[in-house]
Amino acid sequence: GDLRPALTVADFAERARSRMEPAVWDFVEGGAGEERTLAANLRAFDRVRLRPRVLTGAGVPSLATTVLGRRWAAPLAVAPMAYHTLMHPEGETATARAAGDLGVPLVVSTFAGRPFEEIAAAAQAPLWLQVYCFRDRETTRRLVERAERAGFEALVLTVDAPRLGRRLRDERNGFRLPRGITPANLPVGDYSSPAEHGRRGLDPGMDWSVPAWLRSVSRLPVLVKGVLTAEDAVRARAAGADGIVVSNHGGRQLDGAPATLDVLAEIAAAVGGHTPLLLDGGVRRGSDVLAALALGADAVLVGRPVLHGLAAGGRDGVAGVLRLFTDGLADAMALTGTATVADAGPALLRTPPVPPT
Ligand code: FNR
Repeated sequence: GDLRPALTVADFAERARSRMEPAVWDFVEGGAGEERTLAANLRAFDRVRLRPRVLTGAGVPSLATTVLGRRWAAPLAVAPMAYHTLMHPEGETATARAAGDLGVPLVVSTFAGRPFEEIAAAAQAPLWLQVYCFRDRETTRRLVERAERAGFEALVLTVDAPRLGRRLRDERNGFRLPRGITPANLPVGDYSSPAEHGRRGLDPGMDWSVPAWLRSVSRLPVLVKGVLTAEDAVRARAAGADGIVVSNHGGRQLDGAPATLDVLAEIAAAVGGHTPLLLDGGVRRGSDVLAALALGADAVLVGRPVLHGLAAGGRDGVAGVLRLFTDGLADAMALTGTATVADAGPALLRTPPVPPT
């Protein structure tokens, strides 16, 4: 292995790529269409400029925060992503151990490669379940019940996928899951082509009654993931959502959708303060976490970099990636005179990255 320390998420990505089949790399990295939204997520954070505030006496920053009544060691969690077993045989179980090492939650995908019970036995921090609404509601109901029994603490309903976005890299590669990579918590079936399974499985007619239905089959709080407009954020609250994840699915659904950071402020203005507000998409450094907090997020989810850490070094690789975020956030807070997560506000940013209207 490479003995030089990995100092950025790009270092982990490079190591991961050298260990992965090119088609698997494309599945992880890729977005929908021409990947404009994927690129926009990264660019939005690149445009941010933080305003240092000096001589504040803020001292050593405190990263801890409380979300849905639970303490997180830092305002970040692992985004739900299918099949961690593509990266490492221990899959989500190794990721859960690493998240526990850092004291941050893991959102487990409907398409997790390891059983919920095994992941839960390894976890030291909250586990949430990401839920896809299948045409066959019984499949979704059974999935939710199994996670709740295993001790999961919240449900994250993905609402931006009435169908899967067209991932052109996967189409070009004719991507199929390698043998042995299967969703460990779904009924036996043919899942080898994610695109094909998505077409057959996802409910194209899902509507605002789904959050209430989820509440009727579970006692867990329900967050809605995939909101990009203030109107939908208000509707989500009216539909009883306990939290909102501002997300464009890492640019994998609607190509041409805005960068998440660019819509955060308007959504926070509509529902922030009342409803826990999370954001994902393009978070690649600790200072990105601070930028999202400044624009109204309560916490962020980190996606692809976690998979890179897992492919590069299993549990330790994921812990290394998560530590880059917590260390980088602590640095950015100290150098902007931000003592606590609650102290982050728009005053931290020069020219808030609001898109032209
Ligand atoms: C995802 N994402 C995703 N989202 C979801 O709700 N359910 C899922 O099963 C998956 N699966 C998945 C697989 C892979 C390989 C990727 C890269 C992403 C989307 C994910 O939760 C999140 O929204 C984005 O990944 C966040 O963007 P970044 O951090 O990857 O830029």
